[in-house]
Order: sequence, then C-alpha cells, then structure tokens
Amino acid sequence: MSNWKATAVSCSNIALIKYWGNRDQALRLPSNPSLSMNLAELTTTTHVEFDPSLTSDVLILDGREVTGSGRARVSRFLDQVRNETSEVSHLFARVESRNNFPAGAGLASSASGFAALAVAASAAAGLTLSEAELSRLARLGSGSACRSVPGGFVEWALGADDQSSYAYSIASADHWDLRDIVALIDVEHKSVGSTEGHAVADTSPLQAARVATAPDRLAQARSAVLGRDFAALADVVERDSLMMHAVMITSSPSLMYWQPATIAIMQAVVQWRANGLAACTTIDAGPNVHVICTAEAAEEVALRLRVIPGVRQVIAARAGGPARLMANL
Ligand code: DP6
Repeated sequence: MSNWKATAVSCSNIALIKYWGNRDQALRLPSNPSLSMNLAELTTTTHVEFDPSLTSDVLILDGREVTGSGRARVSRFLDQVRNETSEVSHLFARVESRNNFPAGAGLASSASGFAALAVAASAAAGLTLSEAELSRLARLGSGSACRSVPGGFVEWALGADDQSSYAYSIASADHWDLRDIVALIDVEHKSVGSTEGHAVADTSPLQAARVATAPDRLAQARSAVLGRDFAALADVVERDSLMMHAVMITSSPSLMYWQPATIAIMQAVVQWRANGLAACTTIDAGPNVHVICTAEAAEEVALRLRVIPGVRQVIAARAGGPARLMANL
C-alpha cells in the first residue's frame, strides 16, 4: 500500500570493526567485512513523497534546501528505487530529512540518512522489501548505511556481489548495554569525506595487510560481543581503529583526521582502562572520539571527557534498534 509517501526513522551506527576501501567503488562492495553498533540517541527521520507536479527531485536537510552534489547523490539513489517499479519510475520526489544531532559536528549522518531514505523511499514507491533487500539498497547510498537497517549489533559480511552484500543483526540492542560516549572536538576546516577516502585507501601499502587481517579481528569482536567480554572487545576495537587510521595517514593524499585533543583522549582512555575503567576508543573519518564503555563506566567517562581541553560537547548513546517505517503523516 502506498499513496506515494512514507516516513522512516533510522539510528546512526558506530563501527567496532571498520569499513575502509571498496573492491567496487560504484557499487560500494567493501574490501573487508565490518561490525557495528546502532546508536539509539543519534537518529535521522526522513519523509519521501513522489509527486507528479515536481520537475526535479527536491532535498531538504534539517530545514534547508540542498542542491548540487548532495542532491545528485540522493537522486542517483532514488533512481535505484524508480528502476524497481513502474508506479513511480517517471516521478520525482521531495525528500525531507532531519537529524536529531548537531549538523556539521562531524558525526556520520550518511549512515542513518541513507538507511532512513531506503526504508522511506521504497515504501513510498509501493515496494515491499525484506530487511536484507533494504540493507543492500541502503548500501548503494552509503556503505555504512547498510549496517543501520538491522537492529542492535550488526555485521556486514563481504558478500559475493551486489545482491549478496548486505548487513544483518548478530545480537539485538538489549543483548549488551554498551554505551558510546562521543567527544566532539573543535574543527577548523572540513576534512576529506569518507567516499573520497575509500577511493584512495589502496594507495597505502598498509591497506593490503589491514584487509588481510580484518576477518580475524571481526571474528574476535563478534565473539567478544556475543560473550559480553569487554576486555577482549576493547583490545580489538582500538587496534582495528588504529589500523584504519594507519592506512588513512599513509594514503596519497595523506588523510590525517586527528587533532591534538583526539590524541589526548586516546592516550587518556588507555590509562583509564589500565586503572580499571571499562572503556576504549574508536575514531571515524574525523577528529571526534567515540569512547565505547560499559553502562557502569558511562557516567565517569562522560565526566572525565568534559574536562579535556578541546572537547566541545559530549553526547551519550546506547545500542539502538532497526530502521523503521512510521505511520504515514
Ligand atoms: C570511517 O559509509 O561513510 O565511518 O559509502 O562513501 O558513504 P560511503 O562511506 P561511509 O564510510 C564509513 C567509514 C568509517 C568506518 C565505518 O563506519 O565502518
């Protein structure tokens, strides 16, 4: 059932084992498998309406109209949906998307954004897709978005091809009360985005070694999550993030996302853990530090992060559920 409109909400996610580099850049077939946790408090809500009166797709992000490359990426994504059904194949869409986290803070919005868009756009087009099909569709918009479609702790296996590369849940959000305490760091200028970063990953000679050893780290992280073993998880999460940044730093051009405060937090958290606090760090394509910790450690971690110079804001998130449709508005 569709009246050509639908609304969906999706959580962002934090990768515990990182996706970096593609074996097919256009199809976003990843070089290595990855594992993430959805973040309940960081969400995107997206409304899609296919409209016969429109002469082009319209994108409104956090209340502002977006044109240029941002809209072109969304239009290319909508083409995938239009290709699936004759009902809307000839119609443009109005897409209104809202993040509940601060814009421009360097928190990933493409993951929650394209997961919510996949769910909303396919429903608006009258398609009934399985979770795997929605995850695969979201992947075409942004690789990490495929991990925001299923709930809780999510694995994105390599897959053999376009059809078989999607993510699935290995444990629900209530399996383990892990927290992500995000330290937002002041940034002076906009850095290179992940799409461009993936494209240069193979220019680093370290990428081949990272990719070859990723399945082992993924297996360690998976069993640490399933066994709720924080010490084992902390070890592999920090190592995996450092391996990705080693690749980034040694790529051409070099991608150095860290700021002084990023390094200060990484070093502090290693000390805190040695002194008994169940916390570890992981960093995406930006200077912000995600401190993964147990529920018991969360308050102490947030208090300590707030007083580190260079930390602008601290946001706490719990494990979140799957992307979902909302009642038609
Ligand atoms: C560092 O999914 O943002 O966050 O597919 O080009 O949109 P695109 O890239 P994206 O890459 C995520 C990179 C990362 C690690 C991760 O989330 O696994």
